[in-house]
Amino acid sequence: EKGGYDYFMLKEIAEQPKAVADTLLGRIDAAGSLTLDEVRISASELREVDKVVIVACGTAFHAGLIAKYAIEHWTRIPCEVELASEFRYRDPILDQQTLVIAISQSGETMDTLMALRHAREQGSKVLAICNTNGSTIPRESDAVLYTHAGPEVAVASTKAFLTQLVACYLVALYLGQVRGTKWGDEIHVVIRDLSHIGSDVERVLETMEPVRALARSLAHKNTVLFLGRHVGYPVALEGALKLKELAYMHAEGFAAGELKHGPIALIEDDLPVVVVVPSPRGRSVLHDKIVSNMQEIRARGARTIVIAEEGDEAVVPYADHLIRIPATPTLLQPMVATVPLQVFACELATARGNEVDQPRNLAKSVTVE
Ligand code: F6R
Repeated sequence: EKGGYDYFMLKEIAEQPKAVADTLLGRIDAAGSLTLDEVRISASELREVDKVVIVACGTAFHAGLIAKYAIEHWTRIPCEVELASEFRYRDPILDQQTLVIAISQSGETMDTLMALRHAREQGSKVLAICNTNGSTIPRESDAVLYTHAGPEVAVASTKAFLTQLVACYLVALYLGQVRGTKWGDEIHVVIRDLSHIGSDVERVLETMEPVRALARSLAHKNTVLFLGRHVGYPVALEGALKLKELAYMHAEGFAAGELKHGPIALIEDDLPVVVVVPSPRGRSVLHDKIVSNMQEIRARGARTIVIAEEGDEAVVPYADHLIRIPATPTLLQPMVATVPLQVFACELATARGNEVDQPRNLAKSVTVE
């Protein structure tokens, strides 16, 4: 059942190219437009939407944080992302023009369910992005877009996360398409890029041996920090979450721009810091700023583990360890940059003798608030 892998998590990491392709399947027509008829919210209702609110927990919340960048960029609709467990307790401002997106792999997470019930009580439309057919969250939503990751058994979410990103991007592009925003022409280009992502992930998976070796060499460490910027910031949060839940290590993700506002005080000799580097081609200003951050933390003793695009030579002098990922458009980078972090956490957990598929104190679906 584990298909020759030692753990379900490894199997599910390896299944990601297919999971991504399956989630795109049948949703793009021959002309390169999106066909999301399955989303039972009419085009006229979608044209009325003036705010998007994403609610989710854990890894699904990180997918939501990344989706915000895509939704606002492609649709120019303001988008908020909130932890489902916080949402209803602050009396959020919602009305009929608010589209609430609830992201959940299991479809049974109580916090997310309570958040969507609250949203519907206020008259908002709720679209579920879910991996489990017929589960409670899609049943109670106005509409659902299923991720087609297949069953995820390991407690730590991997392939579901990548497909949540794909689904969120499809929703963002679809909103752009039905509303005819100025990004309309860009949609076709993005759809083409999205359809290449599966093979990019495949290439990342082929180069993971050095990441495993590095993870094993860090098994005795107490703390690992993660830095990112723009869409790389939620990737840093996700890398840290994976390490906490699997390796039981102290791991924290920071927005790189926040370093000087506090976290840089944590840097000490030989502290491993994973840095997710933005593409030097897209927002090159951010790329250059993160290169300076690498200089700053290295000068204070950090051991940098750098995830950077192929061909990005500017990072080389500041990388103690360099993990290459294929060049992708900025908004799609999280889909390739997350993969080495999954492998890293899984290998560290193994090296520390932890139960990879069933981490202590955790359950696959959290059906209590
Ligand atoms: C992390 C993880 C959890 C879940 C969270 C939400 O690897 O698995 O953080 O992402 O409990 O679960 P779902 O997506 O089922 O609502």
